[in-house]
Amino acid sequence: MVLGALDRPVVRFSEGGLAFEADVCKGHKTGHFLDQRDNRARLRKVSTGARVLDVYACTGGFSVNAAAGGAKLVHRVDVSSPALAAASRNMALNRSLPQVRRCREEDTAGDAMAVMAGLTRSRRRFDIVVVDPPAFASRRAHVPRALRSYGSLTELALQLVEPGGLLVQSSCSTRVGADEFESAIRGAAERSGVRLTEVARTAHGVDHPVGFAQGAYLKAVFAKVWPLHR
Ligand SMILES: C[S@@+](CC[C@H](N)C(=O)[O-])C[C@H]1O[C@@H](n2cnc3c(N)ncnc32)[C@H](O)[C@@H]1O
Repeated sequence: MVLGALDRPVVRFSEGGLAFEADVCKGHKTGHFLDQRDNRARLRKVSTGARVLDVYACTGGFSVNAAAGGAKLVHRVDVSSPALAAASRNMALNRSLPQVRRCREEDTAGDAMAVMAGLTRSRRRFDIVVVDPPAFASRRAHVPRALRSYGSLTELALQLVEPGGLLVQSSCSTRVGADEFESAIRGAAERSGVRLTEVARTAHGVDHPVGFAQGAYLKAVFAKVWPLHR
C-alpha cells in the first residue's frame, strides 16, 4: 500500500551494486521482486560466458545479474510486454559495465510453457535456464495441480539446458513445501532421462525474516544437468 502522493512512481535503486527502476504503483508486488536478491547474486557468480534463458523474467533481475556476471546472451520470457520493456530499461541502466554492454539481449513475450516448447522446436540450447513462475497454489487443494505444473516446467526447461548446464527453478507458493517441490523437479528429471546434481537449495533473502511458517514461501533449487549415463 502506498500512502500519500508520489511525484514520480518510478523509483531508482541499487541491488548488489546494480541499478534498477521499479514502478512502485503499477508494478507487480513492490515493483521489483526483492525476495530473489540473494539468488540473483548467486547466479551472477556463475554466469561468465553463459547463454541464459530467464523464464518469467518480469523486470529482469536475473538477466541483469547474469549480464553483470559476464553472460554472453540473456533471453527473457514473460507474458507481460510492459514487464519486458522494464527489464530492457534495467539492462540499459547498467550499460556503464562493459560486460553488460557486451551481453546480447533477446525477448519473447508470451506464455512461458508455449515459448519454451517453441524454443525447443527451434533447437535452441542454453547454459543456464532460470524458471521463476508466479504462485501456483493459493489453497492447499491446489497443491497437487501446482506440483504437476512445476514438473511440467522442469521437463520443458531440461530440454533447453545444455548437458553440464544449470537449472535454477523456484516456487513462491506458500503451500508447496521445499521437499515436495524438490521431488516434483526430481520426478521430471527422471522422466526426461537426465541426472541432476543439486548445487544449492535456497530461500528468500535475509531481509525476509521468517517469523511464522507461511513466511517461508520462497524455495529455489540450483542443479547441474547431466545425461543419465555419464
Ligand atoms: C514471480 S514473478 C517473476 C520475478 C522475476 N523472475 C524477478 O526476478 O523479478 C512472475 C512473472 O511471471 C509472469 N507471468 C505470469 N504468468 C505467465 C505465463 N503464463 N507465462 C509467462 N509469464 C507469466 C508475470 O508477468 C511476472 O512477471
